[in-house]
Amino acid sequence: MAKFYQQSLAERHATLIAEQRLTAAQIEQLKAAAIIAPEVADSMIENQIGQFPLPLGLAFNFLIDETSYVVPMVTEEPSVIAASSNAAKIVQANGGFTTTIQERAMIGQLIFTDVSDYEAAILVVQEKEAALIEIANAAQPSLVKRGGGLRRIETRIITDDDHQPAYFTVHLVVDVQEAMGANMMNTILEATATPLKEWLDSAVLMQILSNFADTSLVTATCRIEPHTLTTTRFEGEWLAKRIAEATRYAHLDPYRAATHNKGIMNGVDAVVLASGNDTRAIEAGAHAFAVRDGRYRGLSDWKVAENGDLVGQLTLPLPVGSVGGAISVLPLAQLTQQILGISTANKLARVIVSVGLAQNLAALKALVSEGIQKGHMSLQVKSLALSAGATESELPLVVAALLENKQLNLENAHTIIAQLRQK
Ligand code: MEV
Repeated sequence: MAKFYQQSLAERHATLIAEQRLTAAQIEQLKAAAIIAPEVADSMIENQIGQFPLPLGLAFNFLIDETSYVVPMVTEEPSVIAASSNAAKIVQANGGFTTTIQERAMIGQLIFTDVSDYEAAILVVQEKEAALIEIANAAQPSLVKRGGGLRRIETRIITDDDHQPAYFTVHLVVDVQEAMGANMMNTILEATATPLKEWLDSAVLMQILSNFADTSLVTATCRIEPHTLTTTRFEGEWLAKRIAEATRYAHLDPYRAATHNKGIMNGVDAVVLASGNDTRAIEAGAHAFAVRDGRYRGLSDWKVAENGDLVGQLTLPLPVGSVGGAISVLPLAQLTQQILGISTANKLARVIVSVGLAQNLAALKALVSEGIQKGHMSLQVKSLALSAGATESELPLVVAALLENKQLNLENAHTIIAQLRQK
């Protein structure tokens, strides 16, 4: 019998049944869940036995740089999409999100050992800069044709715990255009490592891109008039002050910062996943950025401005791509790109950072007022009422009735709406 990795998909299914890990009916269930062509899925990962669907939903009300977006999100967590849509609605009423991108480039690391003179090594890299750019760009001619390529070279002396120089590291900052760029970067690193090692008279420990992508920072800001935050139970000005206070706390306490940032990543990851990008790369970059000054802090900033407005800001490293890799292979990634209506990596990054900020606003607003449990519950009831067809004017009545009789299901929501319309 061939080894599991050598078996065809049908053989792997037969093995699972023979080993009594799954029943024939469960294998059918597995087959029914597959939409990626089996040979494609097989070429993407090893030991593939099926596919694992997650819910794909849409977040509304996103007004970003004066353009409206419907945002596809993939998540297993209830309330994430409702929360970001609700917060985006508040921001929309205040003029929407404004975003900025300083640069979009990837960092590749060439890490050298056995360097005897670090200052001399820096000079060598400076002298050879033009040659290195030429070698790097020759390794990726099509990238250069599309307007990308090696932009600059930086040197770093990495010290050990006793502050003694231990490694010499060269950063290649590469404009990868629309791609995620990991493969391009690795090709460029390999091409440059050999000559650089000779010139430095040293040894290469490794060459790999860095996920601390602080050359791909994207910022979203928004300004909210406090009265637009007011709810039936809480006054907007009071909420604004408490949201700012919650941010200050997340800045000071890593235990809270981790949860604060998890809430941001609820939105970020959901859009990254829906777009076919690498969620782990984005997570790693976000958390490295959160601890950039040596203390792990909340990623967002909410402040009450002099005129009383609540001003929010979030900056994230977002080296996402709009083409290549899994994006080109996953059929649903193309579909979500179509819904989002964007074709550039920069626009995708602008949407993602705005969703992160919206998600954070929704979480903080709930946490500093009625608490997340009630918020979760009422958001769930609200989306239940909406999915049963409640109009905006019917919504508060349907939500109240659902909460009162506590039968939180679609059938009951339909009954309540029908009764309301009969009156
Ligand atoms: C839950 O998934 C996310 C929150 O914990 C985020 C936060 O606490 O800010 C609600």
